Amino acid sequence: MPPCPESCNVLLVGGGGREHALAWKLRQSPRMGDLWLLNADNAGLADLGHVCPPETTSRGDFHFQRWCDNAAIDLVVVGPENPLADGLADRLATDRRLVFGPGKAGAQLEADKVFAKEIMRQAAVPTADHRVFDRVEAARQYLEAHDEPCVVKCAGLAAGKGVVVCETPDEAHEAVDRMMVQRVFGDAGARIIIEERLHGQEVSVLALVDGRTIWLLDPAQDHKQLGEGDRGPNTGGMGAYTPTPVLDRATLEIVEREIFVPTVDALRREGITYRGVLYAGLILTPGGPKVLEFNCRFGDPECQPLMARLKGDLVEICWATASGTLDDQEIDFDPRAACCVVMCSEGYPGPYEKGRPITGIDEAEATGDVLIFHAGTTRDADGNLVTNGGRVLGVTALGDDLRAARDLANAACSKIEFPGAFYRHDIGDRVLVGTTT
Ligand code: AMP
Ligand code: GLY
Repeated sequence: MPPCPESCNVLLVGGGGREHALAWKLRQSPRMGDLWLLNADNAGLADLGHVCPPETTSRGDFHFQRWCDNAAIDLVVVGPENPLADGLADRLATDRRLVFGPGKAGAQLEADKVFAKEIMRQAAVPTADHRVFDRVEAARQYLEAHDEPCVVKCAGLAAGKGVVVCETPDEAHEAVDRMMVQRVFGDAGARIIIEERLHGQEVSVLALVDGRTIWLLDPAQDHKQLGEGDRGPNTGGMGAYTPTPVLDRATLEIVEREIFVPTVDALRREGITYRGVLYAGLILTPGGPKVLEFNCRFGDPECQPLMARLKGDLVEICWATASGTLDDQEIDFDPRAACCVVMCSEGYPGPYEKGRPITGIDEAEATGDVLIFHAGTTRDADGNLVTNGGRVLGVTALGDDLRAARDLANAACSKIEFPGAFYRHDIGDRVLVGTTT
């Protein structure tokens, strides 16, 4: 594989807060050539590169590949799971063009929870005990015979929504019904998993994997629930921070040895060279860390604080990951903590209005050590910044410790206004005051 070009043209796929953070970091690389954005959906991202014309993808794979050739794309960086699960990496990679992100076979780790469980079984990776069901009658019978708390999951991709943690047997029956009979999540619910409910703090450990070498990034935690104190409905993520003290160095080494290494080995035995981010969603049980899920990409919003702290050249790091040369790379983090607080539209995660004017971003950023990553924003006809999604901004701050970073992020949020804006003020409290598990 050729070394990373001096001037590397990059195509970035994905248009959310995670991708704004990736684009911001990629742009700092001295090797950055042209940055092309396939989904310049938010205003922050759109300011950082060239927007791909709509016909880039609308005319099929052959044209997309030709477009990449003509634009002399050297490296494709894929943010979201859907294009990876769809095999985009397989379709765009050539001898001269690398893709950061696994191929379709590797992306099954996220896109097919039954596949992930099978790999974990082969690799003896600790995870919740589970059963797989293709037939609703069999799932119902199983629930009749087992009334302990369980978790019901769609096997397929359901935009992070196909998981129900059940308190009662009735809830479990309802979840099975919604997934398998009503097909609320479409084909993702054709197969389901029912698994034991585990207890403990959750932590996200992300690693760069080049097929063989594994580089663990500093552990992160996110808050998925809408309300303060981790109450209310699940969301795409209300905030995240890194590092977190809940995973000490010794436990992180166990995670590397007992989870990441055997998983990557098991994939290789299946003939899968996994290149990209391997994200393990872990739960720290009294019996040790167990895997709740694997993702095949950076977390959103975990990526925002990770990028805020990552030192070094992201173009080189992605190139090394995609070319199988990670062992030559040094990856280092700013020793400070970073915390991302997500500002949301009134009504989220239910229906919300778009087009509300956003003010105060410059004042918030002027504080220093504050980065505003856009998620659901756009510009109106007059060029003014307006809301365009449920999660609008990922307000990310660096501080000497988590408390300082969180307080600075909250202070920055208080300077930003749009009608109906809300955010959680307690991101990180499970570490800072130990309020929740
Ligand atoms: P997943 O997409 O599989 O990570 O599940 C989404 C969320 O559901 C996780 O972040 C956990 O909060 C919760 N969850 C999933 N599996 C379990 C389990 N076996 N025990 C307890 N909570 C779980
Ligand atoms: N923050 C959770 C995820 O990206 O899946």
